[in-house]
Amino acid sequence: MAVNASRGEWKIQHGVFDQFTLRVLEKLRGQGHFEELTQALALGKEANVFIAMADPDVIVKVYRLENRDFKKMLEYLVQDPRYAHVKRRKREIVFAWAQREYRNLLIAREAIPVPKPMAYHKNVLILDMIGGPADQLKDAPPKNPEEFYATIIEYIKLLRKQGLVHGDLSEFNILNLDEHPIFIDFSQASPVDAPNARELFDRDVKNIIRSAGKHGVTLSVTDFE
Ligand SMILES: Nc1ncnc2c1ncn2[C@@H]1O[C@H](COP(=O)(O)OP(=O)(O)OP(=O)(O)O)[C@@H](O)[C@H]1O
Ligand SMILES: [Mg+2]
Repeated sequence: MAVNASRGEWKIQHGVFDQFTLRVLEKLRGQGHFEELTQALALGKEANVFIAMADPDVIVKVYRLENRDFKKMLEYLVQDPRYAHVKRRKREIVFAWAQREYRNLLIAREAIPVPKPMAYHKNVLILDMIGGPADQLKDAPPKNPEEFYATIIEYIKLLRKQGLVHGDLSEFNILNLDEHPIFIDFSQASPVDAPNARELFDRDVKNIIRSAGKHGVTLSVTDFE
């Protein structure tokens, strides 16, 4: 899963990137953001996430250009006032999705700890790596759930004050970094004045209440007001 610089090709274990994505990766690599992809962390429906060698290592998130639910993405995107006029071409939707995560992370990091977005180009986003692959909350239950969930609630409130709703909070998108929650995966996050912001917020609250319950912490919606 290394770049073969002599041929200018990127080979990965689970397939080969399409030509377009190869060029995007090559451009970002040429700008010095990383040297090579070293490990696939998550090969998902929407994005493939890799660790890349750099000093220090970074995360490279490649949004898939194919096999996506473009209609659903577009529905979400146009409700975000910043993307109301996004071009309806499939690729443009993916690019907007990547750009939106970059912009959301810049906003979020003013209020709460999140990975620092380093760069994006077309369908690829480069981020600070936080912790290791095993740090998703689903694999790393908190030692002090009471305190952990209190911090999650505080972060949700701080984020809202900063003008954002995460919209996809789950045990997959919260990392447990040395007993501190770190929110990741901000591609779905929307401004609080988006027409669907309430719906996204309510869904986050429901997910966190359910997750807290699994760890013996009882929360109610009023805790998030
Ligand atoms: N900055 C980061 N530091 C460490 N690990 C990360 C980071 N970003 C992502 N990961 C790991 O990769 C996994 C997938 O990342 P992410 O949630 O951003 O992508 P995704 O779920 O595929 O995104 P989307 O929902 O947009 O398709 C995370 O659950 C986490 O384990
Ligand atoms: Mg995710």
